[in-house]
Amino acid sequence: MEQRAHWGSRLGFILAAAGSAVGLGNIWKFPYITGENGGGAFVAIYLLCVALVGLPVMVAEVLIGRSTQSSPVRAFHKLAGAGSGWVGMGWLGVAASFVILSFYSVVAGWSLHYTYLSLTGFTVNLEPSQFEPLFQSAFSSPTLNIGWHTVFMGLTMAVVLGGVAKGVERWSRILMPGLLLMMLILLINGFTLDGFGKAVDFMFGFRTDKLTAAGALEALGHAFFSLSLGMGAMLTYGSYLRKDDDIMGASITITVLDTAIAIAASMILFPLLFTQNMEAAQGPGLVFISIPIAFAQMPGGAFLAPIFFGLLVFAALTSAIAMLEVTTSSFIDVQNWTRKKATLFAGGLIFVIGIPSALSGGTDLFGADLEAVIGKNWFDAFDYLASNWMLPLGGLGIAIYTAWRMNEAIRHDHFLAGSKLQVFYKAWLFLLKFLVPVGIILVFLQAVGLI
Ligand code: PFF
Repeated sequence: MEQRAHWGSRLGFILAAAGSAVGLGNIWKFPYITGENGGGAFVAIYLLCVALVGLPVMVAEVLIGRSTQSSPVRAFHKLAGAGSGWVGMGWLGVAASFVILSFYSVVAGWSLHYTYLSLTGFTVNLEPSQFEPLFQSAFSSPTLNIGWHTVFMGLTMAVVLGGVAKGVERWSRILMPGLLLMMLILLINGFTLDGFGKAVDFMFGFRTDKLTAAGALEALGHAFFSLSLGMGAMLTYGSYLRKDDDIMGASITITVLDTAIAIAASMILFPLLFTQNMEAAQGPGLVFISIPIAFAQMPGGAFLAPIFFGLLVFAALTSAIAMLEVTTSSFIDVQNWTRKKATLFAGGLIFVIGIPSALSGGTDLFGADLEAVIGKNWFDAFDYLASNWMLPLGGLGIAIYTAWRMNEAIRHDHFLAGSKLQVFYKAWLFLLKFLVPVGIILVFLQAVGLI
């Protein structure tokens, strides 16, 4: 049996885990759902969900990973016994990573395409009215979508093949500082724009009339997605930690970074929109239609556009690496496969599962026909299934197991080891026992229409 791989340093873990958390969810999805939900009130509820539900679940996931030194399936095997139903939780995580990465790679593919377009100066050469048709034609082109999906999955597999310290950690150390630098340049630009004040008001002005139950539930679901919780990614990364690393401290750092970056992304995008007198509620097309229009109309836009789309690619890549690592490490642990075999198999399979999502924009069986039957295309169906059901269910299982089932000595010992934040133990356990399960169950009841 191979020895468990470990991170080269504590910073390496933080960068890799923050890389997993910071992704398209922060830069593409958070701003557009904030826009759709009217700003301030949604942001406030999101922050509460992150602090009271997301953070406790993250600590629990990392703790399960570190205490078992195993990927999700093996971890529950060790903790609860081979025949236990809890092992199913591990498999649910593996399934969720397949589903999410398959459509995530398609959006990452659009980001690669737009990086390429912006390097060739498309914001200079097109009229504002041409950006929507441009996105529609890219979105519905099988060749483009499959092509970029292939490139993106190839990049992700190449990193994961390198292993924990030499692949995942090494690349996180390069991509994350790059991402922060690109954000900083764009943020400074946002700050200088006329629309900045309006953006601050939109993001932080609390308007109770905008508060809706559906918005609150979307905020909770997104907290799981954005912090990479509920599918064993943080558990897997935690399994590469050594005993003396501070779980609570690291989880706080990762959560704060992820949240700050989602807010910063909004403070990059909304000033651009408001300066051009555009609306905030643009939906998923915000980043691919409205933002290029804004870049086309502002001085320096041709220079900033490749930075912005490059940022999206970097963010997507570090998240995709985490998702592939969940499945790869599961195959290594459970089947005793080599890393190479596990990565090629998992990556290859996810690539194939992603093909229907890549073809979703077309008018064939994978796109319009399916939409006519179930009301969603593959892409939306996968997103809905994973974000609204699989991740919260995974989070619920992790919270219940850690709070109600786990051996107290192991739990206490691992929370305390290496941590200066021991005073939080009781509060953490309380949230995990009561607030987290109740919050998640409310989401489910609302989703099935019972409340
Ligand atoms: N947290 C990522 C994002 O916000 O884009 C998405 C994600 C990555 C979800 C890894 C789950 C995961 F395991």
